[in-house]
Amino acid sequence: MFGLKTNVRVGLDIGSHAIKLVVAEKHGDKHRIVGAWARDIYTGTNEKYDLDGPKKTSVVPIVLDMFNEAGLKPRRVAHLGSCLSGLNMATKEIRTLQMSEEEMNSALTQEARKHLPLDGSESLVDYQILGDDPREADKVRVLIAVTTKRMFDSHLDILRELELKPGVVDLEPLSAVNAYITHSELPDEGVVCCLNIGARRTNLMILGRKDMYFSRDLPVAGWSFTEDIMKKLDCSFADAEEIKRRQGLTAKDIKPVGAADSSSLSASLALHDKSPLDKMYDEINRSIRYYVKETGQSGVVKFILFGGCASSQELCDFVAAKFSVPCEAYDPFHGRDGSIHVSNRPQFAAAVGLALRAQAIY
Ligand SMILES: Nc1ncnc2c1ncn2[C@@H]1O[C@H](COP(=O)(O)OP(=O)(O)OP(=O)(O)O)[C@@H](O)[C@H]1O
Ligand SMILES: [Mg+2]
Repeated sequence: MFGLKTNVRVGLDIGSHAIKLVVAEKHGDKHRIVGAWARDIYTGTNEKYDLDGPKKTSVVPIVLDMFNEAGLKPRRVAHLGSCLSGLNMATKEIRTLQMSEEEMNSALTQEARKHLPLDGSESLVDYQILGDDPREADKVRVLIAVTTKRMFDSHLDILRELELKPGVVDLEPLSAVNAYITHSELPDEGVVCCLNIGARRTNLMILGRKDMYFSRDLPVAGWSFTEDIMKKLDCSFADAEEIKRRQGLTAKDIKPVGAADSSSLSASLALHDKSPLDKMYDEINRSIRYYVKETGQSGVVKFILFGGCASSQELCDFVAAKFSVPCEAYDPFHGRDGSIHVSNRPQFAAAVGLALRAQAIY
């Protein structure tokens, strides 16, 4: 269908729960989205989500099938954007004196090491100058992205197995933010808080026109809700996923198994454990309070949700009510050329951002 045409741009986001593929065509400096596909990785009745991430042997056949459906041959894709997600990556803004590229590389490598849990391999650092520091004339704002060589190599290994030529390799939260900022205005005053709510992690990112960028990974996301339902109903992963999608993240109309029996383990878990929603609120609240205290900067004027859980109206309403500011799920296809029919649009935020940034790097 798309053949060898060099204007084809492919964004591939291999998550721990679902794989997202977005295909666009670039005409001048405009992109037209021509297709979007998502596939869950664990679909068998007895399969269970793996917090450590999916095996290459599970991912590769699914991605190949998706490319086939898209009418693309991986080895012929010239412009790919893909991303790393999950653990062992971090993004941070620092403000530093102007310096040479060599000095910058060395200073940022030192800085980056402070923010990364070590996995035994060396850290890889990339950075982008965001502009001048509005508060101190001789300084610049620098966004650093850091990961480990092991993470990067295992990603390249998957691409190699797929016969895909690596192009731009981003960090997932930045890809989602990239899609957002290409089409949305940041407020003049105050900051927006973006939450990329996938399965394993929620990436919280604070963005403002003048204010410091801040990010933190929260250990509560889609899997926390599924696991909670599994415990309450003593059911399988597949059943809990189905219930979650049908009845909402918290499946609040469902009574825990053995709830009437106060001695049962599941009833006591349900009563004494904080719900994933409350845990998520605590984590978000703590992060925002830390940000405001550390930077002395503005409060949050809006929440934007990305990722597979973002389409939950229940979650959106909960966040808006708790923080008393608007909260909206981000539709990365809105306002772009091309008409796309997918059910969970916010889930594609990162893949759209990757398709927009896709480049050939030889
Ligand atoms: N309609 C829906 N309602 C509620 N949750 C949903 C819905 N559709 C998908 N999800 C949840 O979204 C999550 C998957 O989202 P996403 O594709 O963003 O994750 P991922 O990128 O694979 O994960 P990660 O980036 O954390 O590795 C799963 O927990 C899934 O149960
Ligand atoms: Mg993800």
